[in-house]
Amino acid sequence: MTSAFRKTTETYRQGARTMPGRYYTSAEVFLEEAERVFRRRWICIGRATAIPEPGDYLTANIAGESIIVLRDTAGVARAFYNVCRHRGTRLCEGPTGQLPSTIQCPYHAWTYGLDGRLVGAPHMNEVAGFNKADYPLHAAPLEHWEGFLFTNLATDPAPFVEAFGPLQGRFARFNLPALVTVRRIEYDVRANWKLVLQNYSECLHCPTIHPELSDKLPYTSGANDLVEGPYLGGYMEIKAPNASATMSGRACALPLGDLPPDERRRAYYYTIFPTMMLSLHPDYAVFYTVWPKAANESRVVCEWLVHPDAPRAPGYNIQDAEVPIPRARVSPRRGTANTCGRWGS
Ligand code: FES
Ligand SMILES: [Fe+2]
Repeated sequence: MTSAFRKTTETYRQGARTMPGRYYTSAEVFLEEAERVFRRRWICIGRATAIPEPGDYLTANIAGESIIVLRDTAGVARAFYNVCRHRGTRLCEGPTGQLPSTIQCPYHAWTYGLDGRLVGAPHMNEVAGFNKADYPLHAAPLEHWEGFLFTNLATDPAPFVEAFGPLQGRFARFNLPALVTVRRIEYDVRANWKLVLQNYSECLHCPTIHPELSDKLPYTSGANDLVEGPYLGGYMEIKAPNASATMSGRACALPLGDLPPDERRRAYYYTIFPTMMLSLHPDYAVFYTVWPKAANESRVVCEWLVHPDAPRAPGYNIQDAEVPIPRARVSPRRGTANTCGRWGS
């Protein structure tokens, strides 16, 4: 796919301004965003490899709604509202787990197959007219893109292939579906979710916040090929003799794919609104999902991906793909991380 890359100064819209402060702090605005953004857009859940085996599940909280994403006994990934059809009890607690071949509600033991069908409802056979087939779990749509899973809470969601049209096939050379997660961290940021994405999308703060990497990726070298709709991003140059956006400047893993020479001198950074960011370096990828918790608090989940053969290859050093964090701005929950992540952490 050929792309036209343009400097931000060429795509900047005259008159554009930072939004008023209340858009970053107001509980009312945050509630409106839940309805108008998070309940309508396709939301990245994580990698399909997070639920590799039948019975594996994870839960995701989107705009106050809990969703179970599981792999059924036939190996198909599915998403359901995490709510019993009887009296609305939460079915799966905790962020991840393993189910037997069924999901049993902890309240009155209604039992569902991993395909969502109600297969057991104690005493309901005594109720005239009750038919288990009428009470499957409420399904949510689940779509795959490049090894990532997405769901949508809208009653009539925009078709995924249309919503992700500009991204279809765009990153094929990076081998994303086959990459393996080698590191995962979660951290809380005391800031509105939009600031996390906005900060990721610019590099004017890089010389002051990330001086250790400025000689590897010149901060004004960025040019974007996606500037319309819910996407923003492009590449930055990896300055010779450096081979990657790592602390040492050396590649930390095998190449992700069969990249042409000019691609080996680029680091790509894409914001996929509303909650995903994807960094593609020649030797490693990082993706972030932002989980808004309140107007002024966000959880960030961050995973490092490499070629499946990379961890066993000479020179592998994924820890090199990280920078120290400005601690004043982040409360790490597991590991350490950078609030912006544009540099691979
Ligand atoms: S609420 Fe789930 S079985 Fe009653
Ligand atoms: Fe940054």
